[in-house]
Amino acid sequence: MSRKAKAVVCRENNKPLRVEEISVDAPKRGEALVRLGACGVCHSDLSAVTGTIALPLPLVLGHEGAGIVEEVGEGVTDLKSGDPVAFSFVYMCGKCRFCVSGRPVLCLEQGKALTTPLEGTPRTHDAAGKPLNIFSGCGAMAEYATVSAENLIKIDPKIPLDCAALVGCGVTTGVGAVFNTAKVAPGSSVAVFGCGGVGLSVIQGARIAGADKIIAIDTLEAKLEMAKKFGATDVILAREDPVKALKKMTGGGPDYAFECVGSGELAATAYRAIVRGGVAVVVGVAKPSDSTSVRTMTLPFEEKTLKGSYFGSCVPRIDFPRMFSLYLKGDLKLEELITRRYRVDEAPQAFADLESGRNARGVIVF
Ligand SMILES: NC(=O)c1ccc[n+]([C@@H]2O[C@H](COP(=O)([O-])OP(=O)(O)OC[C@H]3O[C@@H](n4cnc5c(N)ncnc54)[C@H](O)[C@@H]3O)[C@@H](O)[C@H]2O)c1
Ligand SMILES: [Zn+2]
Ligand SMILES: [Zn+2]
Repeated sequence: MSRKAKAVVCRENNKPLRVEEISVDAPKRGEALVRLGACGVCHSDLSAVTGTIALPLPLVLGHEGAGIVEEVGEGVTDLKSGDPVAFSFVYMCGKCRFCVSGRPVLCLEQGKALTTPLEGTPRTHDAAGKPLNIFSGCGAMAEYATVSAENLIKIDPKIPLDCAALVGCGVTTGVGAVFNTAKVAPGSSVAVFGCGGVGLSVIQGARIAGADKIIAIDTLEAKLEMAKKFGATDVILAREDPVKALKKMTGGGPDYAFECVGSGELAATAYRAIVRGGVAVVVGVAKPSDSTSVRTMTLPFEEKTLKGSYFGSCVPRIDFPRMFSLYLKGDLKLEELITRRYRVDEAPQAFADLESGRNARGVIVF
């Protein structure tokens, strides 16, 4: 049976978002239909609206979701009606060489479930019956979503769905970049460029990993105040090039720097800032035409590393439970990341607040 659902739809780049009534079909083989409880508003959703992330329109936004399974398709054995789940926004086949070698965020098949479930035809249609694409195989900014079962991770029912949603992207992306991509060592120094939901999660991850100095950099004073609450030991208001200040504060440069904004220029700044032997990690997603550059000779002479991190280099079935256990122990702050909750009708306001930097994270609750 198909469901009617209110959904946040992008029809044209850089035009106001619409909250529409759509229909969501029953799951086919290997799929599940989820009733959403919450969906975080990630900058990547905004990037789909601006065209920085170029996905075909019209598009149901949302990938940082959590909800309750209502129906499963044929062949789905590990999920059943009533199960609480968090969305995992990268389709992982479990069989390709990247999946089997423990790097499923690089799954070779992920492109097949980028705007529809894996099978390739849409389950979502607008009021006129025209097909709608879904962001990153999720389309979680809707009361219902039908997705490939591989995009869903069963979670502990003790976790509130709004907190679980954040683990579906921002938190795992940030904490995973620290734990999995950079493997930040205790006692080290860390610089974090950009203190949105992702950057604040890097900060918390660095605190949990036992970093000694955690320096937060943002253009907004209010974000630096938030950063301190999540574990930043020092802050820099980004007005001019912060490299000099960072070198001074750390006696030569931070061991790790995380770019959590999406700019090649800032990636280059992060790389310049790190100490010899250091690691600069690019987490932010820049527009396709953007590029970055490093002084080539610093690569051999200073053994510096510039690397990327996608979805916190995570293995969702291992890392999601790890995030929830850190949360239940009180180490990982999830409630505190939610600055404001919105009804789905208020989605345009939620995006405006993301753009102005008002929130650590805004979350749409259903
Ligand atoms: N790699 C991944 O898997 C992945 C996953 C999720 C999000 N992202 C990307 O991470 C980035 C951050 O996402 P978010 O949801 O936290 O965004 P956000 O908009 O909530 O936060 C961005 C922060 O950067 C700050 N900022 C802007 N320009 C700056 C500058 N020049 N110097 C310092 N700070 C600056 C803003 O004030 C804001 O606080 C985006 O590019 C997003 O697309 C990547
Ligand atoms: Zn995201
Ligand atoms: Zn794979």
